[in-house]
Amino acid sequence: MNAEPCTYVIFGATGNLSRIKLMPALYHLDVAERLPEGTRIVAIGRRPWDQQKWLEEAKDMVQAKAKDDFDDTVFQRFSERLHYHQGDISQAQCYATLAETLGKKEFSQNIAFYLSISPADFGPVMSMLSDNHLFTEDSGWRRVIIEKPFGYDLDSAQALQRRISHYLHEEQVYRIDHYLGKGMVQNVLVFRFANVMLEPLWNRNYIDHIQITHSESIGIDSRGDYYNSAGALRDMLQSHLLQLLTLVTMEPPVSMDAESLRDEKVKVLKSIRPIPKEAVHAQAFRGQYAKGHINGEKVNGYLEETNIPPNSTTETYASMKLYIDNWRWRGVPIYMRTGKRMAQAQSTISICFRHPPLQFFRDTNVQCMNPNWVLLGIQPEECIRIEMTVKEPGLEMNTRTSSLDASFRNSDEKAIDAYEDLLLDVLKGDRSLFLRFDEVEHAWRIVDPILQTWAIERDFIATYPAGSWGPEDSRLFDKESQFWRSSLTPECK
Ligand code: BG6
Repeated sequence: MNAEPCTYVIFGATGNLSRIKLMPALYHLDVAERLPEGTRIVAIGRRPWDQQKWLEEAKDMVQAKAKDDFDDTVFQRFSERLHYHQGDISQAQCYATLAETLGKKEFSQNIAFYLSISPADFGPVMSMLSDNHLFTEDSGWRRVIIEKPFGYDLDSAQALQRRISHYLHEEQVYRIDHYLGKGMVQNVLVFRFANVMLEPLWNRNYIDHIQITHSESIGIDSRGDYYNSAGALRDMLQSHLLQLLTLVTMEPPVSMDAESLRDEKVKVLKSIRPIPKEAVHAQAFRGQYAKGHINGEKVNGYLEETNIPPNSTTETYASMKLYIDNWRWRGVPIYMRTGKRMAQAQSTISICFRHPPLQFFRDTNVQCMNPNWVLLGIQPEECIRIEMTVKEPGLEMNTRTSSLDASFRNSDEKAIDAYEDLLLDVLKGDRSLFLRFDEVEHAWRIVDPILQTWAIERDFIATYPAGSWGPEDSRLFDKESQFWRSSLTPECK
């Protein structure tokens, strides 16, 4: 697919996402000469800045991320693409002047609107764009990129979808989940479907259980307002972690095209056994960080963070167990967890194979052997590891775990931020790494019973010290031999 010139219109251009992700990603695409000739970027902001001030701000945003790779000459070229549109997005006036600007011949009529704004503003902004005929595709395509959260629960997501489909047809909507833009996440598909050795083993006959962990050592920074109304289950599990789950467990799609890929992901989500309300406590767990230490430094507990009510029971840690009721996965538990202020920052998918019979080793020193694990390190270490049991050198029959490693990137290969890939896909019209509404809808169906139960149980929440691996939730595990795997190096239990 070729990328066509386009005008990127960024709502919320002076905000955090634009600062740390969008502007640096667009700059890097320019460095890589992937922005087609004629591509322009229109930043919408309320601040009374002129073009000069915006260029200075944009330079700061890009420089902060590019660091030593910053190149003045490329930035000069990049800055010629930039245009600041001052306006209040809640006012009709902002859209009338925007329509006038975008109508000028220097702007491509292929227009992508990036809504990096509060979800409450999605509807009104779309309505005013529509009133000004900015979604009409007479002289070029019009696409809208929507950041998460897509709704707050199933009902609100459906309501938002009804509103969106009033203004746009599905081909115009790009629901972003930035995890799908991560190189290692895409590598999960290549690993599974481009290598023949594992596919015969990738099922309930050989796999004991699957774990997905996303832990962060950071807290909630200045996002108290948003986070306290969301919590870890909505913020990470319903979106990013369930997406990872679909990629690890789906059937091979017939091709990489958007619909085939998303059809298979939806089938997995639909096959997940619903959690009845009375099973919520057996299948889900929540916790909140208390004060503790991160890298030797004392840090506050969640309740002491800015904008957090002192009696909040919002979870900063959430874990759950799911079962996929299909032929491939029936009976294999999937454990997922995520948390802020945990011991280490990492995202890993860990697949634990069944234990081999020990009969062969009777009458030897071998008492216990680790099962085989396949570890997919998403970040910060991007790798694929297959752990095997091997003999220890020496006169005795002893074993140890050794791992076959395939790192995702050689040291001379650059990391590409997820947003670079996704912003380029919007120009190409490739929606395979964006969510279709039914994916979002089924993901909400899975977590809704947990959210509803937690919403009424507001008297108590377990806590964990900042800098730990979270609260004690081993009751989720089906067997005593199962435990959270927190390391990419062999662990013996
Ligand atoms: C965002 C969440 O979607 O993903 C954040 O809102 C979280 O709370 C972030 O920190 C994690 O993304 P990444 O790419 O840093 O792993």
